[in-house]
Amino acid sequence: MMRWFIFLLIGIPLISLMFVPIDGLFYRPEKWPKPIYNFRDNPLTFEGYTLGRTLFYDPILSKDSTISCSSCHLQFTAFAHVDHPTSHGINSRAGKRNAPGLMNLAWYPNFHWDGGVLSLNGQAINPLTHPDEMGETLEGVLVKLNRNEAYKSEFKKVFGTERITTSHLLKALAQFTVSLVSANSKYDSVMRKESSFNEQEQRGYSLFLKHCNQCHTAPLFTNFEFKANGIGPNALINDSGRRVITGKASDAYLFRIPTLRNIEYSFPYMHDGRITKLKDVIHHYANSSNWVYPISKELKLKNNSLSPEDQKDLIKFLKTLTDKEFLFNPSFGYRLK
Ligand code: HEC
Ligand code: HEC
Repeated sequence: MMRWFIFLLIGIPLISLMFVPIDGLFYRPEKWPKPIYNFRDNPLTFEGYTLGRTLFYDPILSKDSTISCSSCHLQFTAFAHVDHPTSHGINSRAGKRNAPGLMNLAWYPNFHWDGGVLSLNGQAINPLTHPDEMGETLEGVLVKLNRNEAYKSEFKKVFGTERITTSHLLKALAQFTVSLVSANSKYDSVMRKESSFNEQEQRGYSLFLKHCNQCHTAPLFTNFEFKANGIGPNALINDSGRRVITGKASDAYLFRIPTLRNIEYSFPYMHDGRITKLKDVIHHYANSSNWVYPISKELKLKNNSLSPEDQKDLIKFLKTLTDKEFLFNPSFGYRLK
C-alpha cells in the first residue's frame, strides 16, 4: 500500500514533466514556477482551445465585423501589434496604448500596462467593448454567436450549453490565450544545457544579469512590478499608468515591466510604442543623461554606463529570446472553420 503511495507521489509529477505539448495546448516548462491561472475554473480541453482560437481570429466579435483579436495581436510578432505605435481598432480609431505581445499569460498576476485587469478570464471584456478597439456590446456579440449554428454546436460540445453566455465566450477565448506558451528559444535550450551561447551572447547575458534582470527577471523576463525606466511621460497621450488604477500619486507614470521574450519581433516598444528599434531601446538605457523622471531605483546604469560594444552584446543576448517554434507554430495560427 505504502509503496503504491510513494510510486504515485513520485510517478505522477514525473510523468507530467515528460508531457510533451501537442497541438499548442498549454504546458508548464521545466523549472518554471507554478502557473497562477486557475485551470480548475476553466478546465482546458482541445475542443475549448480550438473554439477559442477560432473566436480569436473572427471579426464577428467586433461591432462592424472588421476587427478580430488578431488584428492587434499578430502571431508572427509574438501577438503584438507592429504597424502602429498604439493600437488601431474599428473605424481606424487609435487607442492610447501599444498592444503587448501575448505569451505565458498563465503566469501573469495581472494584465494591461497598468495592471488594471486581474483575471485573464475577464480580460477580453475590455477589447470587446472598448470604443477604440472592437466597439461591440456583450449583448450584441452574444446575439450574433447564438444565431450562428456552427458556433452553437461548438459551444455545446465544450460547455454542454444550449445558449452561449458571456462567461462561455470569455472562457473559450482564455483557453486559447492561456495556451500561448513561449519557452523554446535559444536561451531556453542553453538553460536546459542542450546548446550554448557564443561569446558575444555570453557577454550580453552577463550584462543582462547585472543591469536588467532585477526588473526583467528570468524565466518570464518580468517580475510584474510597476516601474519607470526613465523614458518619461508622453505629453500627447498623458497616460499616468499605474496611477489610473490606484489613484496614488507615487504610482504616476509607472508601467508594468514588460516581458522581453520574442522582443526582436514585438516592436514597437514601450507602453506607447514610441521606440521602433531595439538598438534605440538599448541606447536609451545606456545614456542616463537622457533619462526623464520618474526613474525607478533598480536602474543601476547611472554610474556604470554601457559602451557601444556592450550595447551590441546585449542585443545579441536579447535575440536569443526569440522562439521561432512559438512564432511559427501553425496550431496558434488562423484556422479555417
Ligand atoms: C484594437 C486593438 C486590440 C484588439 C482588437 C484587441 N486587443 Fe488585446 N490589447 C490591446 C492593447 C492596446 C492592450 C494593452 C491594454 C492596456 O494596457 O490598457 C491589450 C492587452 C491584451 C491582453 C493583456 C496582455 C498583457 O500583457 O497584460 C490580452 C490577454 C489581450 N489583449 C487579449 C485580447 C483578446 C482575447 C482580444 C479579442 C477579444 C483582443 N485582445 C483584442 C489591443 C487590442
Ligand atoms: C526599473 C526596472 C527596469 C530595469 C532595470 C530595466 N527595465 Fe526595461 N523596462 C522597464 C519598464 C517599466 C518598461 C516599460 C516602460 C514603459 O513603457 O513606460 C521597460 C521596457 C523595456 C523594453 C521594451 C519592451 C516592450 O515590449 O515594449 C525593453 C526592450 C527593455 N525594457 C529592455 C531592458 C534592458 C535590456 C535592460 C537592461 C539594460 C532593462 N530593460 C532594464 C523596466 C526596467
